[in-house]
Amino acid sequence: MQNKRIFLIGFMGAGKTTLGKRLANKSGLPFVDVDQKIEAYFQLSIQSIFEKYGEAFFRKEESKMLEKLIEEFPQAILSVGGGLPCYNNNIELMNLSGTTCYLHRPAKELFHRLKNSKENRPLLTGKSDAELLQYIEVKLLEREVFYSKAKIIVYRDQQDVSSLMKRLELTAIV
Ligand code: S3P
Repeated sequence: MQNKRIFLIGFMGAGKTTLGKRLANKSGLPFVDVDQKIEAYFQLSIQSIFEKYGEAFFRKEESKMLEKLIEEFPQAILSVGGGLPCYNNNIELMNLSGTTCYLHRPAKELFHRLKNSKENRPLLTGKSDAELLQYIEVKLLEREVFYSKAKIIVYRDQQDVSSLMKRLELTAIV
């Protein structure tokens, strides 16, 4: 059995969930989505958690959930929310616990991928397209300080399952 924790990090809309599920299918490692675990724990959507308790509460809870899931899963593909690496030394914790992969995409591309899914992302809700693009550009710049600490940076043209499997030294089960 492969002894690995792989953390997929990157901005909202980078494709962490899709790629994470594919990597999990191909390698046989479990797929773990930190946001989904938070939703299941609180029995509330991320949107509702932000609305009811605010962002600061969410940031504390996502850090706690990360620690819990690291304990629980010595071997897994973990997809983490876009903000998680940027709070509470979480990027350092992930770097100590496994292989961090930053799924890089340019701001314009993120904008096109996100402009029709603003409503289930609390930080994007209510923004016009122009505001959304500006928000992504500014936030991405801030967050890249943290994202760039990842052990592996995966550019857009490298985001296919087979090449990533090789870079991560994962073995296919089929
Ligand atoms: C957030 C990203 C979301 C979710 C929350 C906050 C962020 O996850 O954790 O809405 O701060 O970038 P995805 O990156 O999976 O959309």
